Amino acid sequence: MHPSRPPFIAGNWKMHHAGPSGVELAVAVARAAALLPAVEVAVAPPLLAIPLILPECAEVARQLHVAPIGVAAQNLYPAPKGAFTGEVSAEMLAEAGCRWVILGHSERRQYFGEDDAFVAKKVAAALAAGLGAIACVGETLEERTSGRTLDVVLRMVDAVIPVLRGAGARGVIAYEPVWAIGTGKVATPDDAQQVHAAIRARLAAADASLAATTRIQYGGSVKGDNARALLAQPDIDGALVGGASLEIDAFAPILRAAQALAAG
Ligand code: PGA
Repeated sequence: MHPSRPPFIAGNWKMHHAGPSGVELAVAVARAAALLPAVEVAVAPPLLAIPLILPECAEVARQLHVAPIGVAAQNLYPAPKGAFTGEVSAEMLAEAGCRWVILGHSERRQYFGEDDAFVAKKVAAALAAGLGAIACVGETLEERTSGRTLDVVLRMVDAVIPVLRGAGARGVIAYEPVWAIGTGKVATPDDAQQVHAAIRARLAAADASLAATTRIQYGGSVKGDNARALLAQPDIDGALVGGASLEIDAFAPILRAAQALAAG
């Protein structure tokens, strides 16, 4: 972490907690976050849960006199409206009260065929609608073992650099090695830092202020017991958390680790 970039921890719920259990979890996260002012916190529930969750989180914030936690979508379609059956636009997400959207997650790249150009369009649409964008990048195990990690990751980063310019703190990159997602195999802090530093250098080569303001989250089997060592790395500005974001008792220790580091 770096003092100029507030740590940002986001919970990616994927296809879990769409109903009352999601409201309960979001309220618990909002209450935990209220005690951790140095950390920016967001949850990314299934779309259906968002209209249930937003008023509850706003109420927690009102009672506790803090800013509400962010609510993120997990995808969008990069056209404002039209004949795109099954899709939701950035404008619709913003209107519904979302503050963030996760884009280009490896599951979307793998199962839904999203490529770099499509992800960049989505990031552009999100930012144009006033949302923050979390653009995910990461290599597969085969790409890592064949020594192509940086080629792949920086190719994905290059695709979003032109659209991230000027986004400031609303532009976020999540480095998520695919082999670490949901596997319990976390990248070592050193390995993760190396990739984060390479991403930061790539941003700096394009635009110094982009490198200074863009937060780079690590994702892939982040848990309460490994969060501190990862977040202590100079170029790791937060975490995108899957499995451990599904229960408050697993998520809160990650938020507390970020607060402890940020508070010095
Ligand atoms: P995980 O998922 O924390 O369960 O590995 C991370 C992600 O997919 O964003």
